[in-house]
Order: sequence, then C-alpha cells, then structure tokens
Amino acid sequence: MASITIRNLDEAAKRALRERAARNGRSMEEEARLLLAADAGLAPGPDADTGTGQRNAAVRGDSGPDGLAGFAGAGKTVLLILCGGVAAYKSLDLIRRLRERGVTVRCVMTAAARQFVTEMAVGAICGGTVFHDLWDRQAEHDIGHIRLAREADLIVIAPATADFLAKMANGLADDLASAVLLAARRPVLAAPAMNPAMWANPATQRNVRRLADDGVHFVGPERGEMAESGEAGLGRMAEPMAIVARVGALLDTRPRPLSGRKALVTSGPTHEPIDPVRYIANRSSGRQGHAIAAALAELGAEVTLVSGPVGIADPSGVTAVHVETARQMQAAAEAALPVDLAVMVAAVADWRTADSAECKIKKQPGGEPPMLRMTENPDILHGIGHHPARPALVVGFAAETNDVIDNAKAKLARKGADWIVANDVSAEGGAMGGVRNTVHLVSTEGVEDWPDLPKDEVARRLARRVAEWFARREKA
Ligand code: C5P
Repeated sequence: MASITIRNLDEAAKRALRERAARNGRSMEEEARLLLAADAGLAPGPDADTGTGQRNAAVRGDSGPDGLAGFAGAGKTVLLILCGGVAAYKSLDLIRRLRERGVTVRCVMTAAARQFVTEMAVGAICGGTVFHDLWDRQAEHDIGHIRLAREADLIVIAPATADFLAKMANGLADDLASAVLLAARRPVLAAPAMNPAMWANPATQRNVRRLADDGVHFVGPERGEMAESGEAGLGRMAEPMAIVARVGALLDTRPRPLSGRKALVTSGPTHEPIDPVRYIANRSSGRQGHAIAAALAELGAEVTLVSGPVGIADPSGVTAVHVETARQMQAAAEAALPVDLAVMVAAVADWRTADSAECKIKKQPGGEPPMLRMTENPDILHGIGHHPARPALVVGFAAETNDVIDNAKAKLARKGADWIVANDVSAEGGAMGGVRNTVHLVSTEGVEDWPDLPKDEVARRLARRVAEWFARREKA
C-alpha cells in the first residue's frame, strides 16, 4: 500500500486519528492502515478483539498513564535535556508526544546535541526557547539555571550519553545541562543511548549503578541495531512512547492500584556450576521477569526482584537481589516473604551437578570425557505455593515447547499457583531470549489467549490484571 499522507487530513480527523493511535500504542500511519484494511474487509479493525476479550479496555488506557485523555502528566512541566547522540532525532517525536498529552516541555541541549539536531527544530517542536548556554546573560536574566531546574516537575535526559551519565554520576556542573541537574530537586529519568560496547563498559555500568542508587530512574536502553552499520546490541534509546509511559508513571500522583502491596518477582536463568569456570544454564534473558517487576512497581507495588545472571539493567524503583544458582534464588525468594503476590518468571535450572568440582576439571589427553552426575534443584514456585506464608496471589510461568495449555493446567494444581502464564518457548515461538511473547493466562476460571505482544506490554497487562484481582478481592 502506498504511504498515507496524514498531514493532508483535516484537523478534526487528524486529532481523532492521533487519539486512536495513542490509545492503541500505534503510530498514526499504522492506525490509518489498519482502519483502511478493516474497511476493505482485509483484516479485523484496529479495535478488534484479539482473543482475550480484554484487549480494548486494557490497551486503550483512556484513563491509564500513557493514553491521550487523562494523561497523568497533563498540566505539568518536563525539562528535557538532549545530549549528543544519533537518537536525538527520536527526542523530537518525544517532545510532540508529550505536548499532545498536555505536558509543557522545556528543552536544554548540550553542545554535542546541537551537532545532531538543530536548536531551530527543537525550539519549533517544543514551542519555546531552547536553553544551552550557562553563560547566556539574557537567558540567565530571564529564568536562570536554578529556576529552570526547580520549575520542572520532572527532568528527562534523552538521549543520555555515556559521557553525560559519567558527569552526572560525579556531580560535575560545567555546562548548562549538568548545572541544571545538580540544582534539581525533582525526579530524574534518563534514557541512555550509546554503542553497546560503551554501555557494557564497566565504567558506564558503575556510573549507572551509582545513579540508580542516587534515585535516578532509567528507561532502556533497548537491544537492536545501531546507527553504525553492522552493529547491534544493547544500547538503543527506548522508543518515545516507552519514555512517555515512564513520564506518565513518574508524574502520576494519584494513588496507584498496587500501593501498599508487596510483590516478589523471580527473573532470568540460574547458573549451576560444574566447576569454578563452567556452568549449566539456559537462554533466558530476564526481559519478561524484569518487565513484570517494573510494571508492578509502576502500579505502586513494593517489588523485590530476585534475578539470576542477566545482561540487562535492574529496573528502577525495585529492590534487586542478584543470585546465581537455584538454591540461592530459593533462599532469596523465601527471605522476601511475606508478600502479597509472587510472580515466578525465572527459568530455574531443573537440575544441577550433584557435586561441582572445586578445581577446573582438566581435559586428559586421550582420556574419557567426565561424567556429570545430576541432582534435582528445589522447585521454588512449588515451595512458595505451599509455604506457610503463601502470598495471596501466586503466579507461575510455564515455558513449554508442546501441549502448552495442557501442561500449564497440570502445573496450576501441582505447583500450588493461582495463575500460570504459559508461553511457547519452541524455536518458532522465539520467546526465550526474544523481545516478544505470545502467552496464555491459565487459571481455574479458564484460559485467556493473549495476542503476540512486546514483553513490556505483556508485563503491563499482567500487572493490571493483578491490580484488578486485588481490587475485586477487597470488594468481596
Ligand atoms: O516445572 P517448570 O520449570 O516448567 O515450571 C515453570 C515455573 O516454575 C516457572 O514459574 C518457574 O519460575 C518456576 N520454577 C521454579 N523453580 C524451579 C523450576 C521452575 O520456581 N526449580
């Protein structure tokens, strides 16, 4: 289909389309394409029920934190700091998305940012002066960097470069952007964007940890292709709508549905040592579990995340406990009790070696390969589901490659869980280690088939379902 020129629609149609698209988390072009395809009978409409009967209410989010109407940040001011990275072009879209939700956006650009996008473009889109010079007498006279910092309800740094994170972590204030941050008493949200090697560098990771300890919130980075041709990995800036969702959550002062509730989430794989250098593991990335921990925290829950070894950052706003083995995970999970709910997402190794060698097992020239004697690991979910301090709601995950639903149903009772989220981890399913997931929510009330969704969206839906469950229980 040829491209659709949204610009040529009349204002009312454009506005209606923009609202629909925002409600459904799509671009306006994608929304228009789906509407046209539905009209021609080629596809179900954009609002079609995709199998759960819940989709519209859940995704629409009219009153949710990132929908257009009732956006929690409406009427508030965000100070957006743009640093020098290719991803700065996405920040132009971020400004638009925030402004159409009623947020006033003030922009500060670093000198490097101005190498990537022009002050003119940023100024035109944010509808105001762009600040960049600490020594600009006029700007200092009009507003001053201290007021710039104080008058914002939230400071967002997007893209946040490795260099700027390093400055922040060390409290430097040698340009307007860093001086504003040092003077700020408002929450700060950083959206890192950099080459994967820079993100993985121990110096950057140290800075990120330090900033997280200082209370800085993070969104992303995401895994994907880099601007440098042929490079891919963890380092892409989060998409503008993901940043908007975090802005909405951070600016939301309404009581949140899971405020006062404690949650335990397990995530990632476990590593079971064979000897000091070798281990047994699986392909779990921790993305789904971490996203669930973040989504529960966004709804106000106090979350303890017990994570196996993963290559992704701890979500902000949760207490993370890092473990390696299943037995350590079990101890950490049980130590987190009592909680109101437990979501056990970790892909725990079912077996470990019965006796891991103290020294590296040597290859003997011409010798037989070593025999590994295995023993079963504790079933952590089973333990929590049958614990004297059993949480009110216990949710397990079932990673299956065949008979997904039947196996999940059998697990419900066996594990002592209230819900099992079943996902297909066969190679074709691609859930293990991937960024999307097709899940089925299995409970004693039946089976809900959810459509193929990004893992973040699966997490948000699950968190909303948890909140509804507690709301219903409170009423009963
Ligand atoms: O039995 P299976 O491994 O398929 O069960 C999956 C569910 O059980 C997941 O929720 C997983 O986190 C949990 N589990 C566990 N401890 C184990 C094995 C699985 O908590 N040892």
